[in-house]
Amino acid sequence: MPSDQPSPSRTAGTGVPLHLRGLTKKYQDFVGVDNLNLDIQGGELVALLGPSGCGKTTTLRMVAGLIPVTSGEILVGGRDVTSTPTYQRDMGLVFQSYALFPHMTIAQNVAFGLEMRGIGKDEIKARVRDALRMVHLEGKEDRKPTQLSGGQQQRVALARALVVRPSILLLDEPLSNLDAKLRDEMRREIREIQQKTGITALFVTHDQVEALAMCDKIVVMQAGKLMQAGTPREIYEAPANPFVASFVGRANRLTARGDGSGRYGLSGVEIRGSAGISGNVTMMIRPHRITINDPAAAGENGLSGRLTEVTYVGDLVQLEVASGDQTIMVERSTRSQEALPTIGESVSLNWSAADTMVFSEDAP
Ligand SMILES: Nc1ncnc2c1ncn2[C@@H]1O[C@H](COP(=O)(O)OP(=O)(O)O)[C@@H](O)[C@H]1O
Ligand SMILES: [Mg+2]
Repeated sequence: MPSDQPSPSRTAGTGVPLHLRGLTKKYQDFVGVDNLNLDIQGGELVALLGPSGCGKTTTLRMVAGLIPVTSGEILVGGRDVTSTPTYQRDMGLVFQSYALFPHMTIAQNVAFGLEMRGIGKDEIKARVRDALRMVHLEGKEDRKPTQLSGGQQQRVALARALVVRPSILLLDEPLSNLDAKLRDEMRREIREIQQKTGITALFVTHDQVEALAMCDKIVVMQAGKLMQAGTPREIYEAPANPFVASFVGRANRLTARGDGSGRYGLSGVEIRGSAGISGNVTMMIRPHRITINDPAAAGENGLSGRLTEVTYVGDLVQLEVASGDQTIMVERSTRSQEALPTIGESVSLNWSAADTMVFSEDAP
């Protein structure tokens, strides 16, 4: 009896897929989101990551139905919802501002969406209790929002979004108002709840650490365009272009010239790269993949230079080296017991060809 089966969104681990096809938003002549194509599998937590103004919120608001699309399609579980009103899209929303009703209790805030759907009193009571337990707020039912901390209010917002058992959960920078420690804790909790419920979720953030730590897949955007979509490891290890390489993790950005064979001229030295491109290229090397004055250095690439600056940043030391007309940043763990070179000293740098990411000079 198929009609008696619960919808897939109700069953853990079998969330509903979300597909965006050519999604575009124009604000007059300005293109806020430009032809975005995205496939999100059921039960995945996907981060929309990019700098402020790149179109993350605009994308989320189109998916939620809060603003109309200029063109393109939104498919939820294969169903085209592009012109379906928000309340019929079966989506749960959590924003940076908690937007709780101040005059209502926590339980009343969470129950609101269920009452709107005409669900019976007993079921509402049970579901509100379950939702509050899920976000670790049992016992706080009768408080008012102002009697809770920011983190607790955001948990109420999450419970309110989940209690209606939506197909898709949409979160727009939900942790930006929280302090660092609480943010860390909430990241773990949101991930845990998302995995437990198996809900498909789209999580907007400008914080690369958040995206890398929480999500199954990361979608990097810049200026309304998709730059790359992939797993955190793919995005970090094989960035599609210099923008992604420097937005997700740190990277030295150097200019070199290639002959198409994988060899590049950099400050008069031959460097081997991970790909063969001819002409002017942008070369990117992560600072922690470069060794400094390592007698056992096995890397294919080496440069000599002069140490110009040393900065302690807690867990690591950043060393700035001038080599020819290039400046190269090197990072070393402060666990290291070896003495550091002193400023002004000549140093040698080594790294591998595999860690030498090369892009054509006109890549974004
Ligand atoms: N209602 C609007 N009218 C005109 N421009 C807008 C509007 N909303 C957003 N924008 C512009 O669209 C771009 C993307 O905005 P937004 O999606 O909010 O970015 P993000 O969430 O990534 O910071 C920005 O340049 C922003 O100024
Ligand atoms: Mg935004």
